[in-house]
Amino acid sequence: MRILITGGQIVRSTGVETADILTENGLIQKIAPNINARADRVIDASGCLVFAGFIDTHTHFDLDLGVTVTADNFSTGTRAALVGGTTTVLDFATQDRGMSCRDALDLWHKKAQGSSCNYGFHMALSEWNAARAAELPELVRQGVTSLKMYMVYDAMRVDDGKIYRALKQAAEHGCLVGVHCENYDLLQARTAELLAAGETAPSAHPISRPGAVEAEGVSRLMYTAQLADAPVWVVHLSTAEGLAQAERARARGQQVLLETCPQYLCLTDACYSEPDAAKFVMSPPLRKPADIDALLGALQRDEIDVIGTDHCSFTMAQKAIGADFSKIPNGGAGVQNRAEIVYTYGVRAGKMSLVQMAETLSETAARYFGMYPRKGLLREGADADIVIFDPDCPHEISHRTNLHNCDNSPYEGIVALGKTRHVILGGKLAVEDGKVIASGLGQFVHRGAGEMFLRHCGLDPQSRAQ
Ligand code: URP
Ligand code: ZN
Repeated sequence: MRILITGGQIVRSTGVETADILTENGLIQKIAPNINARADRVIDASGCLVFAGFIDTHTHFDLDLGVTVTADNFSTGTRAALVGGTTTVLDFATQDRGMSCRDALDLWHKKAQGSSCNYGFHMALSEWNAARAAELPELVRQGVTSLKMYMVYDAMRVDDGKIYRALKQAAEHGCLVGVHCENYDLLQARTAELLAAGETAPSAHPISRPGAVEAEGVSRLMYTAQLADAPVWVVHLSTAEGLAQAERARARGQQVLLETCPQYLCLTDACYSEPDAAKFVMSPPLRKPADIDALLGALQRDEIDVIGTDHCSFTMAQKAIGADFSKIPNGGAGVQNRAEIVYTYGVRAGKMSLVQMAETLSETAARYFGMYPRKGLLREGADADIVIFDPDCPHEISHRTNLHNCDNSPYEGIVALGKTRHVILGGKLAVEDGKVIASGLGQFVHRGAGEMFLRHCGLDPQSRAQ
């Protein structure tokens, strides 16, 4: 199968240029102006932007919280991802206490069968002990080179000593640890205060876990990682204060991967006074306009590395399970909307360049999560995962048109200014004119060590790109 993409503006970390792309047998065969070659399919991309397939570093599909299971499984979630231009998701295989990582990984491989975009896994751990540590080499052999630990959630939280040990031991295997940073004791105490005062509505959710609760968690993680002498990943950063703590660590010489999410770039805690406020109950919560400004400023200065969605969808009926704000299943739907939100609030608002959009949505994720140079960059020899994005296509986001299996969207009613038009996945046209035309083509992505570890070990990450 040969596809020729003509006349698009190719966006890469090296800049933006007009060129054609020829794909053959799943790979990018040639990038050059005016390619004259026979092809099974010619796609006219004039007027459009052409990116390496977007990579979402943070999804939760088919996640069982005990009280309920996320509305999106891999089947619905990866179709929605694909139509929004995401060709690879990194989902959290979740190890429940007492379960082996092997079993968690087997379970997630089963869940992900038949996915419509590519998928890799982080291992989310609910415990750290000798048994879990002993599984690290096998996890890495299986292409899972990142872990996640939580400071919060009763079923998942681990203490600082365990995070320290995990960071240290994971670093020995080239495995990156991400941490959900919030101070559990503080948010529990504030939640108790609010409930005792009769504050049960979703509007109390952001008050229970304000910016200081995140910043304290980030600060503690930064010192923990410094003592462990390990690179570290802060997942879903949402505040100016948390950002400042990570910047301090970087100034001390630490390697810190910062991830934020589209919702923290455009939605504020004013949403919690809306009638359907439960749909905004996610952790961390939506923040203040000043936090949005700080995060966009950090993106502009290349201080935030990747933008993942933290897609963790629940229907309004599922949200209604929570009798008070502290019991509402946490999370929101967004895997389809990432590129269009980042384009609208980042690029078109003059806060990010197209190059930064390509980097934060794809290339840096590929580099730091061990998929580069096979993915994340439009270059000859790379996987033919390609997005053709229309930069001038205003449309209203709605759960009615999203492919999420969810009856709500945090972005409901927002007018996005650009839209994914076509997607090529592994050399096959999978989305045409905004419609999924080929499902179930997703492949497991076996990942190696990311660039932070190559640097940590004194190796030159650039040498891999040759
Ligand atoms: O509220 C959220 N984000 N739920 C998903 C789990 C997590 O904290 O990442
Ligand atoms: Zn998450």
